[in-house]
Amino acid sequence: MKEETTESKAVSKNLKFEYDPAPESFPVEIAEKYGHFIGGEFVAPNSGKYLDSINPATGEKLFSLAVGDATDVDKAVTAATNAFENTWGKLTGTERAKYLFRVARIIQERSRELAVLETMDGGKPIKESRDVDLPLVAQHFFYNAGWADKMDYILPGKTLKPLGVCGQIIPWNFPLLMAAWKIAPALAMGNTVVLKPAEQTSLTALRLAEIFQEAELPAGTVNIVTGAGETGAAIVDHPKIKKIAFTGSTDIGKLIAKQAGKTDKKLTMELGGKSAHIVFADAAIDQAVEGAVNGIFFNQGHVCCAGSRLIVEESIKETFIRKLQARMKQIRVGNPLDKNTDLGAINSTEQLEKIKDLVEIGKTEGGKFWQVDIPLPTTGNFFAPCFFTDQSMSSTISRTEVFGPVLTISTFRTPDEAIKKANDTPYGLAAGVWSEKASKIHSVAAGLKAGVIWANTYNKFDAASPFGGYKESGYGREGGRHGLLPYVEVQ
Ligand code: NAI
Ligand code: MG
Repeated sequence: MKEETTESKAVSKNLKFEYDPAPESFPVEIAEKYGHFIGGEFVAPNSGKYLDSINPATGEKLFSLAVGDATDVDKAVTAATNAFENTWGKLTGTERAKYLFRVARIIQERSRELAVLETMDGGKPIKESRDVDLPLVAQHFFYNAGWADKMDYILPGKTLKPLGVCGQIIPWNFPLLMAAWKIAPALAMGNTVVLKPAEQTSLTALRLAEIFQEAELPAGTVNIVTGAGETGAAIVDHPKIKKIAFTGSTDIGKLIAKQAGKTDKKLTMELGGKSAHIVFADAAIDQAVEGAVNGIFFNQGHVCCAGSRLIVEESIKETFIRKLQARMKQIRVGNPLDKNTDLGAINSTEQLEKIKDLVEIGKTEGGKFWQVDIPLPTTGNFFAPCFFTDQSMSSTISRTEVFGPVLTISTFRTPDEAIKKANDTPYGLAAGVWSEKASKIHSVAAGLKAGVIWANTYNKFDAASPFGGYKESGYGREGGRHGLLPYVEVQ
């Protein structure tokens, strides 16, 4: 018999424990303003302009970041070209690996500091930045370091050559993790980098630049130019950049693909999603409820592969929703630096407005709406977890990526209907299947058009496992051996 834990007893009785505040107290230093990181040094922007970065949990300014223009990007590309031709590009794989292992170890040593900075700048709960983001960031450097001296074994019989300078543009939902996903394989394969973090969350990429200095990475190997869309566009437009790796919205991804399509640049795109969770009646229902909660409320739903559409077998709909509501009432929303917080701050006021607008549209288009009724902090950007039921499959809320803690729930009667509903979206990033029958999981998974499929779990990541989408979720893979190929020329 399964033992009932204190937590599950509380869930079944709808109790919520009151915890005392437990703020993470690790001291961090944040400068008033940061320049770009070019040629191994921090330099002032050509324009003299800076943008504010806000702590979304308090609404207060955290620091200023430099706004990069075409001149700054050109300087960064020149530094990266020099490093490719004279230093980094001349090293053996074994030498490159030594540097990458060193970077990985420093990240581990400084992980508490990095987790606090990530939470302050982006609003995600400290328990996620500390226990999910940072371990994965270090893992991506360790994993890719291991490939640096094994290039001959990636595609046996073929010779792989680095491309040169790679331009990388990343979003605000996993700032340091996306930087690691992009920088580690590029460097392992012998390339050099110009990276632009998102303007909302540039702090940890700049701290990573300090780590590169500490690791004595040759100057210009990685350059970080900060700024918003125009800075990103200057990277896409630069003629000496050989490859663009982008993660972000599908709209900007299409714009970049159009722009880069006029050149011979290689492209990888990791874009949006509207991923489905299929729950069969024979699934372990409490685990599936936990998986559904983790799938959409993890990181405030700011996850490209968020399980934003729950598709449950009709016979368990009522039970599932009742259990889900009970579980959602346990979610602690609040100060992201508090170690007990489950759901932190929405990353920006713009994103909060977008979520609110889509929820309003959802209500007017006829779905039934349910939201946890809890007091939210009075300052900062917060939104209580919620879901829609009985919305039509063609409604905006069913089809548009919300990128917030908003779930839609629909039902199915047969596995074929579940597959059809799950695939009925322009996206194809991820999916989850919940059933006690392995044969059912395999046959359903085979019918799903999604790059990643989880069975009886959700949102599990590993540096050795490739990640990427179908359809409007993008193309190319990141992670694993597959993730190295976009950074090489195959001869
Ligand atoms: P975005 O696509 O505008 O931003 C992503 C990155 O692209 C940022 O670094 C940004 O500065 C840069 N960028 C913006 N315009 C550019 C241009 N013309 N050329 C080159 N780079 C450019 O995403 P945004 O506006 O921050 O978020 C909007 C929506 O996108 C979200 O509500 C969410 O639905 C989706 N999104 C998806 C992500 C994913 O992981 N797939 C990540 C972030 C947002
Ligand atoms: Mg910020």
